[in-house]
Amino acid sequence: MAKNKNNQAIWSTRIKDVSSIFQKVGSSIDIDKRLYKEDILGSIAHVDMLFKQKIISFKIKNKIIYGLQKIEKEIVKKKFIFNKKHEDIHMNIEKRLFEIIGEDAGYIHTARSRNDQVITDLKIWIKNSNKEIVINLNKIIKSTLKIAEKNVETIMPGFTHLKNAQPISLAHYFMAYIEMFRRDKKRFNNNLENLNESPLGVAALSGTSFNIDRNYTAKRLGFNNPTNNSIDTVSDRDFVLDFLFSISVCSMHISRIAEELIIWNSEGYNLINLSDKVVTGSSIMPQKKNPDLLEFLRGKTGTAFGNLFSMLTILKGLPLSYFKDLQEDKELIFKSNDTLINCLKILDEILKNFSPNKKKMYELADSGFITATDLADYLVRNHSMSFREAYQKTAEIVNLAEKKKKKLRELKLEDLKKIEPNLTTEVLKIFILKNSVNSKKSYGGTSFENIKRMIFKYKKNL
Ligand code: ARG
Repeated sequence: MAKNKNNQAIWSTRIKDVSSIFQKVGSSIDIDKRLYKEDILGSIAHVDMLFKQKIISFKIKNKIIYGLQKIEKEIVKKKFIFNKKHEDIHMNIEKRLFEIIGEDAGYIHTARSRNDQVITDLKIWIKNSNKEIVINLNKIIKSTLKIAEKNVETIMPGFTHLKNAQPISLAHYFMAYIEMFRRDKKRFNNNLENLNESPLGVAALSGTSFNIDRNYTAKRLGFNNPTNNSIDTVSDRDFVLDFLFSISVCSMHISRIAEELIIWNSEGYNLINLSDKVVTGSSIMPQKKNPDLLEFLRGKTGTAFGNLFSMLTILKGLPLSYFKDLQEDKELIFKSNDTLINCLKILDEILKNFSPNKKKMYELADSGFITATDLADYLVRNHSMSFREAYQKTAEIVNLAEKKKKKLRELKLEDLKKIEPNLTTEVLKIFILKNSVNSKKSYGGTSFENIKRMIFKYKKNL
């Protein structure tokens, strides 16, 4: 029997002289060692199955499991020496298994390949990561809900084109972000359907001649069922794209809220104050308190998008089955994942460390003829006009206010009557911001009642 030579690559019988530069760049161990837990879990399920199917003996199975558990402890205690020569986590573990239990380690790779092994590990890893991301998203939703609860009656201008549009509640504004983060949660959870198909046992690309039980390993590893086609299985990285896409969308949401808060924090707007916990200073301008962390969040979105595009590009034009190109996936996954988790934690910290400048929000809302639509609606309801006619009348009233350098609410009834003679004092109520906000009672609108109902609903669903 050919003996395994420990300090040599597994393929050293065939390949004699690998250039050192290739050994250096071809190794992925520095990155994929993060998969050690999943790899050992997969290997234990695999050998249990091999024994159950009478492919290996009870004794060998137990020896292998003993060795794998010892390896896990060594890695946890940082006593394991990762060797670049053995390329990746799968072969590093296999090599160490030989050292611990001897030649019986040679049975572990029966009926599998690194091609199915690596995606089994990755799918388990991404499933766990999904859970961590969702936990962090829940924290953000909770912090946002706290802001909403305190600000149901905080009135601010709602903008379109960054120009005053209609008055809204600050709570309603933040709850828009809750909707985005809830969709993110759903997006990550939806990915589980593909992640729950087990690749293990498709071996290199064509399946195996051993009588394995893929349903058994699937169930053991928390998958729902085995994948259907061995060639597709080793070629498929759609689940990686799903993950990177979900991260990108979530990052984009974070970036939007970050940008919003950066604008609101500027002296021009002055709608929020950031506490010292989340700002930084300048090396030259002593007065500065800069929203660096928010900018960090916005900037990191570029990394997330870049990683998604890298993966799409790697897959584009790649013929079926395994190619080394695919090894790039892990670096992208880990980088995107770690960055997102960091960003979610930072955003949560920022949400807990800012306060709205309510007075300034109200003042800003009280400008730009923000209740013009309310007036048009009023004319439709009370003076039997079509919306388009009411719109034109209101535009004339806005022109008048602009000419007189007055707010709509500062116009006198007689001014208004010049344009619509049937108006009575009742119309003046229309210009009160609170009335405007509260009138938006349609489902999903900004009325205080709606908001309170939604807060209750979100809390129940957390
Ligand atoms: N380290 C490899 C990767 O991450 C594992 C699969 C290797 N398979 C192969 N045929 N070289 O992609």
